[in-house]
Amino acid sequence: MKIVSTIKEVREQVKAWKKEGLTVGLVPTMGYLHEGHASLMKKGKEECDKVVASIFVNPMQFGPNEDLASYPRDLDKDATLCESIGVDMIFHPEPEEMYSPHFCSYVDMNVLTEDLCGKTRPVHFRGVCTVCSKLFNIVQPDKAFFGQKDAQQLAIIKRMVEDLNIDVEIIGCPIVREADGLAKSSRNTYLNEEERKAALVLSQSIFLGQKMVEDGETDAKKVVAAMTEKIQSEPMARIDYVKVVDAMTMQPIDVIDRPIVTAIAVYINEKARLIDNFSFDK
Ligand code: PAF
Repeated sequence: MKIVSTIKEVREQVKAWKKEGLTVGLVPTMGYLHEGHASLMKKGKEECDKVVASIFVNPMQFGPNEDLASYPRDLDKDATLCESIGVDMIFHPEPEEMYSPHFCSYVDMNVLTEDLCGKTRPVHFRGVCTVCSKLFNIVQPDKAFFGQKDAQQLAIIKRMVEDLNIDVEIIGCPIVREADGLAKSSRNTYLNEEERKAALVLSQSIFLGQKMVEDGETDAKKVVAAMTEKIQSEPMARIDYVKVVDAMTMQPIDVIDRPIVTAIAVYINEKARLIDNFSFDK
């Protein structure tokens, strides 16, 4: 497995693979990989001849008071995991390789970015859209793999690819959970044992809401109220949002009469802001 840090090296390798008629999958990540990322890479290996994993903590998608500096990093451990799965190349650029001092072009989106995480993280999705379009241009993958855990991000990337006619198929992969239900996240490492237990309130509230909807509840307000009450029963939890949104537009809805995503973001002890969701399509 190659680990490369320049755009030139990625382009040369991908060109050589394509010349041989091989298909290429891309798994964009920010590193500190866990089983959620591993599931994306395994899916990539199933569906493509070659898999590139990018590991880049993208400064553009972090706001001024967010966790860019403290975001966990461990390239050696990440490389071991990628190698064990059969990833063919890691692209691990420095920020200067991705953003020259003269950089001033951005990919931005409205509607889908306005609610949920976009409300409290106003620059986040511009950073995500910009870096993902750069990665698509650099790697030129046939398919790119994203986790459903970031449901808003997945919807945004799908929309961007369609709107801008980017020639890549976006594959969404299911949320991977710990045995006790907590959705896997690199940010779970911010929590001590007690906070880790408190964080279970996220998946508990997701399962509660999911059951209500699957049992036929169509009043979004009732679902949100029940999930909110559950989260508020945990003293270490502070809600950022609990919302039922249209799966296409990511805009809040009142009646569950179409494909939806119910998404939550919760701070645990003000140390970690964790997200979770469920999708429903009757
Ligand atoms: O989901 C992530 O880890 C990031 O937002 C992504 C897609 C790698 C872009 O930096």
